[in-house]
Amino acid sequence: MSEETPNPSNGAPSNGTPILEVTDLRVAVDGKEILKGLSLTVNAGETHAIMGRNGSGKSTLSAAIMGHPRYEVTGGSILFEGEDVLAMAVHERARKGIFLSFQYPVALPGVTVSNFLRQAVKAVRSDDVPTKAFRPLVKENMKRLDIPNAFMTRYVNDGFSGGEKKRLEMLQMAMLQPSLAILDETDSGLDIDALKVVSAAINLLRDKGRAQLLITHYQRILRYVEPDFVHVLLGGQIVKSGGPELAQELETRGYEWLETEAA
Ligand SMILES: Nc1ncnc2c1ncn2[C@@H]1O[C@H](COP(=O)(O)OP(=O)(O)O)[C@@H](O)[C@H]1O
Ligand SMILES: [Mg+2]
Repeated sequence: MSEETPNPSNGAPSNGTPILEVTDLRVAVDGKEILKGLSLTVNAGETHAIMGRNGSGKSTLSAAIMGHPRYEVTGGSILFEGEDVLAMAVHERARKGIFLSFQYPVALPGVTVSNFLRQAVKAVRSDDVPTKAFRPLVKENMKRLDIPNAFMTRYVNDGFSGGEKKRLEMLQMAMLQPSLAILDETDSGLDIDALKVVSAAINLLRDKGRAQLLITHYQRILRYVEPDFVHVLLGGQIVKSGGPELAQELETRGYEWLETEAA
């Protein structure tokens, strides 16, 4: 990162503790280097947006944080709440409180939404949710996310529309209460109603102990969830950081001016 484009979350004094610290990260896919020294700090209580063109490496970043085996970390470090993420197995990352929203969820015929959520909470949340508390908690989250009751007895993603899959995933996220939620292009292809569910779920998680990373190539979702910081990913690095106004600027000006600036 150059001197003229300080990362506000790195540069500004913050009383939030760091949730995610990515330092000089280098990641290769099939032997080709995609991320070339990316640095990013996300503190507790903050919502960050990562923006960039298709192919700029946004999903590579989320895959590296989550531990996808195909993405080879060749340099740098990732810390989650001060611990070395790269030394953790994938399930461990989830157990510690990292949640990644998937673009292509799988169907589980024979497994009801209700059972699925129970198992997911059991597997991931360290603070055990007692049986008696589980139902009211699901109900409350369903109400907040405007999800009909009939949902619970259906089989996971079996015949679900795109919007329904996203609703289920957001309900799962609301139940898991992750310290760090990464939403990678969660807005693409969704209608306004589904987008509102996604926004409501993110806003439910916004509190001083948690952080969210919204990855998107267009600005639509940021009309519903205002990020504290916006970063632009270009050429494998964060080339510019700013506040919500940067997303506006990208909407009107596109990415070309940054390419010229970075060159
Ligand atoms: N699984 C993969 N196999 C081969 N190439 C990949 C794979 N994932 C990403 N890439 C390549 O890495 C680059 C960055 O991709 P990606 O991180 O998916 O970008 P974004 O999410 O910003 O659209 C692209 O050139 C893409 O073709
Ligand atoms: Mg992507």
